[in-house]
Amino acid sequence: MPMRSYPLAMTVNGTRLTREIPGELLLVQFLREQLRLTGTHVGCDTTQCGACTVHVNGRAVKSCTTLAMSCDGAEVTTIEGIAHGGELHPMQDAFRRNHGLQCGYCTPGFVMAAIDMVRRLGLELDEATIREELEGNICRCTGYVNIVKAISDGAKVMAGSSADAASYPTGTP
Ligand code: FES
Ligand code: FES
Repeated sequence: MPMRSYPLAMTVNGTRLTREIPGELLLVQFLREQLRLTGTHVGCDTTQCGACTVHVNGRAVKSCTTLAMSCDGAEVTTIEGIAHGGELHPMQDAFRRNHGLQCGYCTPGFVMAAIDMVRRLGLELDEATIREELEGNICRCTGYVNIVKAISDGAKVMAGSSADAASYPTGTP
């Protein structure tokens, strides 16, 4: 039986778009397969690893178990949408400077979760808080030490940065 399609309106990385999509299409499939925003990764498909984390209306969401249609009318931000004019977001740069990645597969999800963490909990994050908040993100490479350092560092840089976690640039999905 052919899948039924529905009209979807969404703002992705600052660009408003409309599409007809199957009701059962997952947000991660919509972003990766229809918009070709492949920075959002799939690691588990079961809401455990966090590789698929994006922001929906400013909150971190695991896109592998979110229906795209449930985000109708929403503002969605992916890892492709957080750099400003060729400059990395302070949290991205903190991961780079602190060697918070090896293979990098998990990194987009960690960065998006970290920005959400700063937005909710503030710019001074202690190690225990960061580790607890990262419960939903799994890295298979680094053992987390440098990821925790990167998030602490990134939060401090965000304190003095104009690249506020709440403001995103306009991009072209
Ligand atoms: S792919 Fe979504 S949580 Fe692992
Ligand atoms: S850096 Fe390889 S999975 Fe995290």
